[in-house]
Amino acid sequence: MDQSVILEKPKQYNNLLAKSEEMGFTMPSDIYIGTLLKTLTASKPAGSFLELGTGIGLSLSWMIQGMDGNSKITSIDNDSELIEVAKMFFGEEERLELVCADGGDWLNGYKGNSFDLIFADAWPGKYSHLDTTLAMLGKGGYYVIDDMQKQSNWPEGHEEKANALVKVLEKRDDITITKMNWSTGLIVAVKK
Ligand SMILES: C[S@@+](CC[C@H](N)C(=O)[O-])C[C@H]1O[C@@H](n2cnc3c(N)ncnc32)[C@H](O)[C@@H]1O
Repeated sequence: MDQSVILEKPKQYNNLLAKSEEMGFTMPSDIYIGTLLKTLTASKPAGSFLELGTGIGLSLSWMIQGMDGNSKITSIDNDSELIEVAKMFFGEEERLELVCADGGDWLNGYKGNSFDLIFADAWPGKYSHLDTTLAMLGKGGYYVIDDMQKQSNWPEGHEEKANALVKVLEKRDDITITKMNWSTGLIVAVKK
């Protein structure tokens, strides 16, 4: 099997990569987590999805590609420039709500329905506000994180934080998790 053969990339994919380079955005999600997110969102017809950390919109493009016509997604970033880029690329997308806000504030204030998948790709929802975020998952809902394998650009002390997060997730009895040393190091958890 050649895992690098990836068919049906989102229509925005190449332009998002180009925009990412143009802006010097160094944190886009990689193509493998993208394909996984597409597959997971496709498993939840009429699903409700949350992304913390819109970034340049690459992971968002994959999730939207997996979603059916009755699904919806909210994506949050605290960087207004990135949210403007996302509006440019996804402006026509009626199933998408883009929010420019601090993720922690947004999570603390959220009063809506539970989500079928949360991709936590910012500090809040992952290294902070973990209980709040996992409480928003419906039964059978996915919690997905990446960047769990040590990377050369990690600041001092981050490896310890990542290892501590893994231990916290391993000990929780409200989720079942799979750790994958693939892509950038993923954890996929499902709410029991
Ligand atoms: C790893 S990047 C996300 C990459 C994105 N998934 C993509 O494919 O382009 C993390 C993002 O989280 C955002 N971020 C950092 N701190 C945040 C906060 N407190 N609240 C909301 N967003 C935050 C950053 O602006 C950045 O765009």
